Amino acid sequence: MTAKPPDSNKQGFATRAIHTGQEPDPLTGAVSAPIYPTSTYAQEEIGKNKGYEYARVTNPTRDRLETNLAALEGGTASRVFGSGMAAINAVASMLKAGDHIVAGHNLYGGTPRLFNQVLVNFGLTFTYVDTSDLKKVESAFQKNTRLVFLETPTNPLMELCDLRALTELSHRHGVEVVVDNTFMSPYFQRPIEFGADMVVHSTTKFLNGHSDGLGGVVVCTKPEQAEKLAFLQKCAGAILSPFECWLILRGVKTLAVRMEQHDRSGRKVADYLSKHKKVQKVFYPGLPDHPQHELAKRQMSGFGSMIAFETGSLANANKMLRKVRVCCLAESLGGVETLISHPATMTHAGIGEEGRRKIGITDGMVRISVGIEDVDDILADLDQALAAI
Ligand SMILES: Cc1ncc(COP(=O)(O)O)c(C=O)c1O
Repeated sequence: MTAKPPDSNKQGFATRAIHTGQEPDPLTGAVSAPIYPTSTYAQEEIGKNKGYEYARVTNPTRDRLETNLAALEGGTASRVFGSGMAAINAVASMLKAGDHIVAGHNLYGGTPRLFNQVLVNFGLTFTYVDTSDLKKVESAFQKNTRLVFLETPTNPLMELCDLRALTELSHRHGVEVVVDNTFMSPYFQRPIEFGADMVVHSTTKFLNGHSDGLGGVVVCTKPEQAEKLAFLQKCAGAILSPFECWLILRGVKTLAVRMEQHDRSGRKVADYLSKHKKVQKVFYPGLPDHPQHELAKRQMSGFGSMIAFETGSLANANKMLRKVRVCCLAESLGGVETLISHPATMTHAGIGEEGRRKIGITDGMVRISVGIEDVDDILADLDQALAAI
């Protein structure tokens, strides 16, 4: 039997996750990618080197990760950064003063904080709209609009944007679309297939999957994007360390099986919460009564494990969150462990009370990132915690 070449585009997702950019080390045959913890590279003579000069610019472990993540999202190249926020900052740094971005009104709270409190000082302008409403997106376009920046599903309200319709509309106006695909991972959703121009991730979440390293990536569809981002890595230096690159290379090897389990358990937890009498509302695109359930089925190949639910008040949220034992009360998501959080005081504290009120994030809302523990243990934990309300 002849093995397929490891970088074949025809290979399935799990095979690419395990083999693309993850080929055995040519020097030793080591099956796990080597970590190159070096700041610089010896040169044979002036101008003669092995393709590497200085580690802010390039690193072999980073090259492998960038190849791998581009293959998983279906992009032409990718560039990794020190965190998800550094990746988003790099995308914005591709623009210039006077440019305008149309951004989703319900993004991870750190993103509008970066836009409103840092990037406005450099002359970028922003309009926030509900990106599920194409008319609102179109009416937000200005002559100087360069990008639409969105999440789908949104964080934590789980609202979807019709990616194909939005990219077609934006492209008609000469505007590029950047999707933060952190919640779904490329296993369940690949925005480039629907026309997106770039995809970003906080690799801190599902891609790495083990809550042990920060990172971010921008996946490109055009060579000039990858060149510009490589230049930004070199100029601004917000690069990812070789060890962190290796952690993600290791984490993505199990992405397919982890996501399958996240999805199976996510559906069960959402179903349980939707039937619980103390829970007033559940936000999960996999529930048949989610207003965009049909779009979710078309655009995503699974529903994932991000769920938000309404407990009614800050006091109720606090009562239950104090009681959880298997679920870990912590910021972040996408780890093998179930992480439960309170958006109003954690991820979305930075947008202020008025900002939260406008988009519908209440003090009683709780967000859960269902992990891959035994689902019965997660359900039992939620059951005893909700009994405290
Ligand atoms: C959807 C989303 N995008 C971006 C980020 C920022 O990523 P990082 O914490 O790796 O900087 C987060 C962090 O929670 C997130 O949830």
